[in-house]
Amino acid sequence: MYSKKYKFNFQNSTFINRLLSLPKYQLSTINFILIKDYLKFLRRSVNAHGLHSPFMYALATKCFYDKTKYPGYRLLKDYHKQLLQNKTIIEVTDLGAGSRVFRNGKRQVDEIAKVAGSSLTDMKRLFRLVRYFKPQNILELGTSLGKSAYAMALGNPSAQIITVEGDENLAKFTQAQFKEKGLKNIEILHSDFDAFLDKINQTNQKFDLVMMDGNHLLEPTLRYFEKLQKHLHNDSVVIVDDIYWSEEMKTAWQKLKQHPNVKQSVDTFYFGLLFFREEQYPQDFVVNLNSLNLF
Ligand SMILES: C[S@@+](CC[C@H](N)C(=O)[O-])C[C@H]1O[C@@H](n2cnc3c(N)ncnc32)[C@H](O)[C@@H]1O
Repeated sequence: MYSKKYKFNFQNSTFINRLLSLPKYQLSTINFILIKDYLKFLRRSVNAHGLHSPFMYALATKCFYDKTKYPGYRLLKDYHKQLLQNKTIIEVTDLGAGSRVFRNGKRQVDEIAKVAGSSLTDMKRLFRLVRYFKPQNILELGTSLGKSAYAMALGNPSAQIITVEGDENLAKFTQAQFKEKGLKNIEILHSDFDAFLDKINQTNQKFDLVMMDGNHLLEPTLRYFEKLQKHLHNDSVVIVDDIYWSEEMKTAWQKLKQHPNVKQSVDTFYFGLLFFREEQYPQDFVVNLNSLNLF
């Protein structure tokens, strides 16, 4: 039920903003599917009041709906803006599902920044998630221009972040940006995800938080998740980005939730969270990040 407490501001709606920010030629079938999925999601989703698990209630109220204007947001905004003004040309080869807009080849950084990777809203959400969970060891699959890695680095400056990027030129460009900012806690590794995961599989390295934002195809997503299992612990959190991006990602999300090691999942439409906490009652949550319940 719509409550007067929640004012729906279309200008501030990240979903509407995301749709409006898409290039015109993208306003096609894909976005109608996305709208349909979003309406279905809204019907199933709850806000904090519908969350009876103390763990989930705290996550929603102290992280998802945290309205604090953190000083780090200014830095995120500056980096986002800086990328949108950067005319450097990079020769790019996407190793994943790729972009719906670009083909491989020469791309201008500002054009990549417009359509690929995290929006400023996504960056702030990620900042808050990392700030809330305080992971010390973070792994990201898919660096691109480093928007999400930067958000995580600011969310917990004491964290050690490894971010993996298969495109050498993108990895080099982003490395240079981070060097300029004097960021010492992000290590960008130029590697294919499989090669990287196979290499760390020889070690017992554990990650407190993993951000999966690389190859948006079904089979590779499931394969990477399987390879990651050895590196997760009871309190690890796995963030799966773009879970409604394509039919393959929707299927991947359904399958990941059912993995025997996953105890709880949260579908926020924009990303999914997977938890492995043995002490938690197994449950799947669907949480509206706008804290608005229209249905
Ligand atoms: C969606 S972008 C990452 C966006 C970034 N996390 C952000 O929010 O700014 C995905 C990146 O993963 C990289 N990638 C895709 N498949 C890969 C693979 N199999 N191995 C290594 N990198 C891969 C692509 O080159 C691309 O830069």
